Amino acid sequence: MNQYQKTIAQLQESPKTWLITGVAGFIGSNLLEQLLKLGQSVVGLDNFATGHQHNLDEVESIVGSDLWNNFKFYEASIMDVDALSQAVAGVDYVLHQAALGSVPRSINDPATTNAVNISGFLNVLVAARDAEVTNFVYAASSSTYGDHPSLPKVEDVIGKPLSPYAVTKYVNELYSDVFDRSYGFRSIGLRYFNVFGPRQDPNGAYAAVIPKWTQALINQQDVYINGDGETSRDFCYIDNVVQANILAATSRVDQSEVFNVALNDQTSLSELYLLLQAELRNHGIENQKAAIYQDFRAGDVRHSRADIGKAQQIIGYAPEYKVKEGLTKAMSWYVKRLS
Ligand SMILES: NC(=O)c1ccc[n+]([C@@H]2O[C@H](COP(=O)([O-])OP(=O)(O)OC[C@H]3O[C@@H](n4cnc5c(N)ncnc54)[C@H](O)[C@@H]3O)[C@@H](O)[C@H]2O)c1
Repeated sequence: MNQYQKTIAQLQESPKTWLITGVAGFIGSNLLEQLLKLGQSVVGLDNFATGHQHNLDEVESIVGSDLWNNFKFYEASIMDVDALSQAVAGVDYVLHQAALGSVPRSINDPATTNAVNISGFLNVLVAARDAEVTNFVYAASSSTYGDHPSLPKVEDVIGKPLSPYAVTKYVNELYSDVFDRSYGFRSIGLRYFNVFGPRQDPNGAYAAVIPKWTQALINQQDVYINGDGETSRDFCYIDNVVQANILAATSRVDQSEVFNVALNDQTSLSELYLLLQAELRNHGIENQKAAIYQDFRAGDVRHSRADIGKAQQIIGYAPEYKVKEGLTKAMSWYVKRLS
């Protein structure tokens, strides 16, 4: 039995209460689904800024009404400290996912990204500290590596941020450290690298590359690649991220920590395009159009690949899904939802 299987067995034996902020979003709703399936009690908080009721409805229909009764939802913002203190009361573990994602969004509107991602983060951290939760895990980001060129990315070697979004995610890590030093309140940041999977939103100006291209390919539309196609990412299937959250929440660390969460794998955008075309072909969807190359996008990191050794050693992270396996699962979901 690996560490994750052991942890799951313990949680089923002795269920806990979890707070997920951003529960109606892509990652939050996948955390909700897995925790409810494991018989946990979950409190969720979201203001639907970028999340959707239909994500919650889908989780309800997957888990069924008995398990759904273990979920309590607060429609509220992380700027609302009263709602936060109610939501966190009696909670064992906090998984803080609520934030405004997207580098371009932060370049267009840095003040709003700053307010939600820094002040909102601080509100959740204070509420969790005051409620004396056992563990606080938050969504950090690979954008913190900024302009540092080294590969693979190792947690303590970072460069200068390339966008307002990256600044906010780095400030979260600084607060996490300072809350340990100032109050002895420890937390764990998970630096996600391009996560993908079911319920990731394909719509809107700030959609992530995999759902956006998948939707375009299914609808026989053009796909635009920013730059020369050689830009690369360590794409990580959602179930690996869920695993990392559950392991982080239930582990004991001696100080506030950050961990990379990805695969230590690198896929270029041109390769990704071909992979998506091939996956959709397996569903009978042919789109042979060549991708259209356009300018590089401001704020984008050129290459990204995670060293995952620290998470493997300290929390027992063992990602189950490689990129291709994850794409196969994600495509089945997108074909059902978008065709
Ligand atoms: N998806 C990725 O590849 C990726 C990579 C690195 C980091 N992250 C981080 O992971 C977290 C989750 O991202 P996601 O991809 O699920 O995005 P998402 O947009 O699907 O989910 C974010 C959720 O937070 C909610 N939210 C936003 N502002 C809020 C507020 N003021 N109060 C309450 N809820 C609020 C949204 O409504 C949404 O449901 C974010 O913190 C994001 O920065 C994601």
